Amino acid sequence: KITPVVMAGGSGTRLWPLSRSQYPKQFLRLNSKYSLLQETLLRTDGLDTDTAVIIGNENHRFLIAEQLRELGRSDSRIILEPAGRNTAPAIALAALDVQARQGDGLLLVMAADHVIEDVAAFEASVARALTLAQSGKLTTFGIVPTHPETGYGYIKAGNALADAGFEVAQFVEKPDVDTATAYLASGDYCWNSGMFMFSASQYLQALQQFAPDMYQACAEAYAGNQSDLDFIRVDKAAFERSPSDSVDYAIMERTTEAAMVTLDAGWSDVGSWSAIWDIDNKDDQGNAFHGDVVTFNTHNTLIHGANRLIATVGLQDMVIVDTKDALLVAAKDQVQDIKKILTPLEGRE
Ligand code: GDD
Ligand code: MG
Repeated sequence: KITPVVMAGGSGTRLWPLSRSQYPKQFLRLNSKYSLLQETLLRTDGLDTDTAVIIGNENHRFLIAEQLRELGRSDSRIILEPAGRNTAPAIALAALDVQARQGDGLLLVMAADHVIEDVAAFEASVARALTLAQSGKLTTFGIVPTHPETGYGYIKAGNALADAGFEVAQFVEKPDVDTATAYLASGDYCWNSGMFMFSASQYLQALQQFAPDMYQACAEAYAGNQSDLDFIRVDKAAFERSPSDSVDYAIMERTTEAAMVTLDAGWSDVGSWSAIWDIDNKDDQGNAFHGDVVTFNTHNTLIHGANRLIATVGLQDMVIVDTKDALLVAAKDQVQDIKKILTPLEGRE
């Protein structure tokens, strides 16, 4: 059986002001009656799975618990981080939890905030990744790239392996735009989807090898965990000693044991407003509207209304997101930079 592991501790800042520090994007119901976190769990229903492990931030514990309760999955294991240390330590806690309960086991690590349209294709890729993970590989899911996105990791496929998998010849996390453009033109690279499959022991061994301080801090933090009926809380002081790093930089760029299967399932990391516009339903002018919106001569624009009427005249390639207490107006090709206004907004974000 596979243990679904959901990384739910991110802050989703690029979707401000809908995504807020107290209510980040993974908890939002963006394109369905379920939140992205809930969709992530529902997506694994067709797989042969064990109890899911959700790793999130202490600040969001009630949101996580409530959304699991809505799905009737209060039996999931919710591990709380007292502070964000990025994804490599988060996955370490989940791997340690699987080890503590069952010696070892296979983890299907998923981001809590992706959209996947074709669940059957997702299941087929997971089945192929399973073979590789069972043979000791740190397996990732590669997406055929469509543009030189700098917010993703890039994977160069190497020799063919069993079950239509590949060795990873090179893994480059978030290259600059020139490098990304060259990778795209070469046709040799896939995007890293940010989902992984490996055994708990294989991951922890890689962590010990490449990030021994992180391994040590996480092992101590987990060993000192305190659980009640709802939550598993790790030792704060030990966890805070862990360096902060993502699984991509800490492990995937360094290991020689990486493998990849392709994923062609309508994947999107709804990471920015332009990515939301991409997957949204649009009218024949290329506009995607939510709420009470009236427009004239407006094209390729995304408008998210809240309570009041929004009217636009003569706009193109814009993003307008209105909420109760904050309004965003941005050029659609610059929405990656929303992060940059959140620093001056500190405390009001
Ligand atoms: N528990 C926990 N703790 N989860 C976290 C933390 C943390 O400190 N930080 C981030 N996460 C969660 C996020 O909520 C998200 O679900 C997932 O981990 C990935 O984190 P992101 O911050 O969204 O990563 P990214 O988008 O910059 O990059 C990753 O995903 C890309 C595809 O979307 C990388 O894996 C890239 O290589 C990949 O291309
Ligand atoms: Mg992301």
